Amino acid sequence: MGAVGAGQLRGADASVSPDLPAAGLLSRLALDEPEFETRMREALTRAEKWLQATAHDALDPRVAALTGHLADAGGKRLRPLLVLLGAEFGDPWTPGVTQAAAISELVHIASLYHDDVMDGAATRHGVPSAHARWGERAAVLGGDWLLARAAQLAADLGPAAVHLNARAAGRLVAGQLRELAGPGPDEDPVTHYFHVAAGKTAALLAMSLGIGATQACAPAAAVAALTDCGEQLGIAFQIADDLLDLTSPAELTGKERGKDLLAGVQSLPVLLARESTDPADAELRDLLHAGPVPAAALPRALDLFERSQAPAETEAVMHRRLDRARTALASLPALPALPARRALLALCDYVALRTS
Ligand code: FPP
Ligand code: MG
Repeated sequence: MGAVGAGQLRGADASVSPDLPAAGLLSRLALDEPEFETRMREALTRAEKWLQATAHDALDPRVAALTGHLADAGGKRLRPLLVLLGAEFGDPWTPGVTQAAAISELVHIASLYHDDVMDGAATRHGVPSAHARWGERAAVLGGDWLLARAAQLAADLGPAAVHLNARAAGRLVAGQLRELAGPGPDEDPVTHYFHVAAGKTAALLAMSLGIGATQACAPAAAVAALTDCGEQLGIAFQIADDLLDLTSPAELTGKERGKDLLAGVQSLPVLLARESTDPADAELRDLLHAGPVPAAALPRALDLFERSQAPAETEAVMHRRLDRARTALASLPALPALPARRALLALCDYVALRTS
């Protein structure tokens, strides 16, 4: 456990507006700063309005239904929250911070349209995926449309935002392509996994903190430290996500449990299970070495995985990344952004404890 103890983490907060998905996440951060929390909640509400308005503003209502589908479905709104926290290290009232928060979520949602096509995923956030509802071609174009709208919002903010947005989108695509290609002939699979996670997940978390701080005119050293924090947090977040795929029920994640095993994805927990030298893991190793796990063998594979050392080993790697994120935060000025730094430390703890 890091700077914030488990006892300080709040449970579900009945006072949180049900209209604001991010409020659930915000309420889990041990802030004990009512003024700060209210201000963040109001900023998230403004960002959500930008997001919803942008995702739904296609002229044809049938297109708007497609492009607004995943924005409506929910999600934690982690990325907009990171943008707003990054902005706390400069002047959070600088124009454009709210739009920057919407940009980060638009890029994220766009990537999910594409990702669900690539994974053949039936559900996302507990609702049918876009391609399950509208078909693959429409889902890909829906994602493209959202990416274009994110670029348009970035253009309104200026060259720095355009650059950060374009670079993050490029890193996402490159990370996903690298996952598709698999490790090179001489590449260590675990090293390959970290390259993939850095691109497909960490890039956008780093960009979110960075664009918030940049837009709010924070000092260059703070922008750099926050970007580094986002990079490490992002890799930890992906590791947690990959572990949850194997350990968390669909009712909590809104996604099918074990879909990475069915698809043959070589995530870190899978790689660590494959590398186990424990004789008790022989059956699990055989199942994982044979490529995608057949649906009939999935319950057995999940059971064997949970009884192996791989979950604990995966968590240990995740904790090392979270420690690096906390170290990056330690270099930030303590004032005037103390509540934001505490919130980021609490986010590091949240990544380690989340179940969905
Ligand atoms: C979810 O990861 C997916 C991502 C983090 C990024 C996917 C990126 C692309 C499809 C490239 C296209 C990008 C843009 C900007 C259009 P996961 O599959 O590990 O997790 P999941 O369980 O949520 O599916
Ligand atoms: Mg996926």
